[in-house]
Amino acid sequence: MSKTTVSAPANIAFIKYWGARDLDRAMPMNPSISMTLTECVSHCTVEVLDGEHDEVWLSEPDGNFGQPTSAFVRRVVQQLDNLRAWAGSREHFRVATRNNFPSSAGLASSASGFSALTLATLGALGKRNTPPEELSRLARLSGSGSAARSVLGGYVEWPAGGTTQESCHAVQLAPASHWDLRDVIAVVEIGAKTVSSREGHQRAPTSPYYGKRLELLPRRLEAVRAAIEAADLARLGPILEEEAVDLHLIAMSSHPPIFYWSPGTIAVLRAVRELRQEGLHAWATMDAGANVHVICDPESEDEIADRLAALPAVGYVIRDGAGDGPDDETPHLF
Ligand code: DP6
Repeated sequence: MSKTTVSAPANIAFIKYWGARDLDRAMPMNPSISMTLTECVSHCTVEVLDGEHDEVWLSEPDGNFGQPTSAFVRRVVQQLDNLRAWAGSREHFRVATRNNFPSSAGLASSASGFSALTLATLGALGKRNTPPEELSRLARLSGSGSAARSVLGGYVEWPAGGTTQESCHAVQLAPASHWDLRDVIAVVEIGAKTVSSREGHQRAPTSPYYGKRLELLPRRLEAVRAAIEAADLARLGPILEEEAVDLHLIAMSSHPPIFYWSPGTIAVLRAVRELRQEGLHAWATMDAGANVHVICDPESEDEIADRLAALPAVGYVIRDGAGDGPDDETPHLF
C-alpha cells in the first residue's frame, strides 16, 4: 500500500443520465452515452494514514492547500467508507484533490473528481488492478453517476442495468482512437450552478414530459451507438442537440422548474447554428449547467474556437476532445 495519484477526465454526455431509480447509489432510470475528455481533469492523491480519521484537502493551483466545505468532505468520506467496506479495510486516508477547470459549472467535475478519488483510493489499498467494470461500479457508488463513465476512456455507455446494483456499471463502446472528435467548450458562466444534478434527478419525474422522454430514448440511443460505430458526425450531431434540448426541457418543466441556461447559452447556440450554415461541422450539447460543449471534427476546431471566443457572452473556451481515460502516471499533490 502506498501513496497513489490518479488523474481522471470529465466526460460529456451525448445521451444524458437524468432521473434515478435509486439516487444514493446512482441507479439510473435510463442508459446514457458519453465521450471521455482529455483536458478537463481532476487530480487526486490518496495516502494511507496512521490516524483514526480521514483528512480531505483541496489543492489550489498555487500549490497551497485549502479547506473544502463540510458537505464536500462528507461526500468524500462517504465514498471512502464505500471503498473500505468493499475492500474489507479499516484504513484511514489523507486525500488531496484538484480540478484544472471550473468546479460545479456543468462541466462534470464530480464525474472526474469521484472517478479520480475512487481509483487513487484503490491504488492506496493495493487494488488498482481491479477490472474496469468493477471500477466503474465502485465510482458510481459515490452518488455521482457520471463518474461511472469517467473511469473508462473513449466512447462509453452506461446501461440502466438490471435490478441489482452489482450489474450497474459502464462499458466502453469504442476507444478514443476510433474517432478523433473534438469538444470546444464555451464557458459562459464559472460560478457553481444553483441547483445540483442530484436535485435535478429528483425533480425529473415531476415533468409532464418525462414519460415521453423515456419513450423516445431507445431510438435515440440506437442512433448514437450507430453514429459512433460509423464515426459519422452528420448522424450524431442532430441527435446530440435534440437530446441536450430535451434534458433542459425536462429541467425547465419540473416542479419547481430548473433553469440552467443563461443568456450566454442562447448566444452560443445561435452562433453554432450560424457556423453550421457556413458549412462547419459543429453541434452543441449542455449538461446540467449554462456552458455549451460544441462537438466538432478536427478540421473545424480552430475556426469554431476562434469564433466562439470572440462572442461577448463567452468568457473563454476550453479545447478538449476524446481521450483515453484516467492516467496513473501523475505527480503527487503532496
Ligand atoms: C446532466 O449525478 O452524475 O451531466 O454528480 O453532478 O456529476 P454530478 O451529476 P450526475 O448527473 C449527471 C447529469 C448530466 C448528464 C450526464 O452526465 O449524463
